[in-house]
Amino acid sequence: MKVLVVGAGNMGLTYAEGMVKSPFLNRRNLMIYDASPEKTLTLSKIPHFDVFEKLEDALPLADVVFIAVKPFHSESLFADMKPQVNQDQIFISLMAGITIDTIQQGLGIKKVVRTMPNLPAKVGKGVTSFTEAKEVSRVELLMVRNLLDTTGEAIHVENERFINASTGISGSGPAYVFYFMQSMMEAALKMGFSANDSRVLVSQTFEGAVALFNESDLSPNSWMERVASKGGTTRAALDSMEDNNIKELIKEAAYAAFNRATELGK
Ligand SMILES: NC(=O)c1ccc[n+]([C@@H]2O[C@H](COP(=O)([O-])OP(=O)(O)OC[C@H]3O[C@@H](n4cnc5c(N)ncnc54)[C@H](OP(=O)(O)O)[C@@H]3O)[C@@H](O)[C@H]2O)c1
Repeated sequence: MKVLVVGAGNMGLTYAEGMVKSPFLNRRNLMIYDASPEKTLTLSKIPHFDVFEKLEDALPLADVVFIAVKPFHSESLFADMKPQVNQDQIFISLMAGITIDTIQQGLGIKKVVRTMPNLPAKVGKGVTSFTEAKEVSRVELLMVRNLLDTTGEAIHVENERFINASTGISGSGPAYVFYFMQSMMEAALKMGFSANDSRVLVSQTFEGAVALFNESDLSPNSWMERVASKGGTTRAALDSMEDNNIKELIKEAAYAAFNRATELGK
């Protein structure tokens, strides 16, 4: 099986790096193409990629094509690709907001998988939700999952509504975590810690809490109960958050991203 990644920006390169390092796909089977000549030159110095200067040289060789350009480039890309695609190829879109139907129409093909990746894919800790057109077989979908798993974990979702919903949770989610981290770092600085100590205190706290969470089946609520004793310090912080309705505001923020993703898809 040969895979072509079109668009070697943040996401395209992240997936290419993930796939090439996995035992699932070796160097000779991974092709990469970017419209920018400077990027092509940089990529050609990376030994583990087969870099192409012309789309038409790579596209007919591919069994699977990752589309990792910005959504606003999709229309012109589809026009360039259309004359050279075939009905057996599977197209995996990383593009936010571009529907399966739009991709099928734009390329004149049927086998499309739409995904919602997230940024921690860069460090192999991503989560990618994905859903498919009915023309993609179970075997093909399993192969797609294996490819997506190379950057973290892949979650199959029932339909495109859940792709938009996962934009609100995991796609935009890293920014919510950074928001929380920034707030805690600002509090630490205000308490008199150095910038470096604030960074370590906050980063280790997040990493440690997630590690604990992943080691058991306990819910976040149960963990909060465990660490917050009546009249204690943690309880004071959690009560303050509850009094300020923080949980509802976070849910509202996630819905704002979900609604925006739905809107962009129209
Ligand atoms: N970054 C994220 O966290 C994230 C999360 C979820 C989804 N996504 C999705 O991932 C996709 C890629 O985002 P990104 O952040 O990786 O974008 P990016 O860094 O801008 O990368 C896109 C690359 O594609 C190139 N390109 C443009 N038109 C092309 C064409 N016709 N053929 C081949 N290459 C072309 C661009 O070149 P130029 O720079 O010269 O235009 C650029 O190198 C987007 O659709 C986005 O919605 C990203």
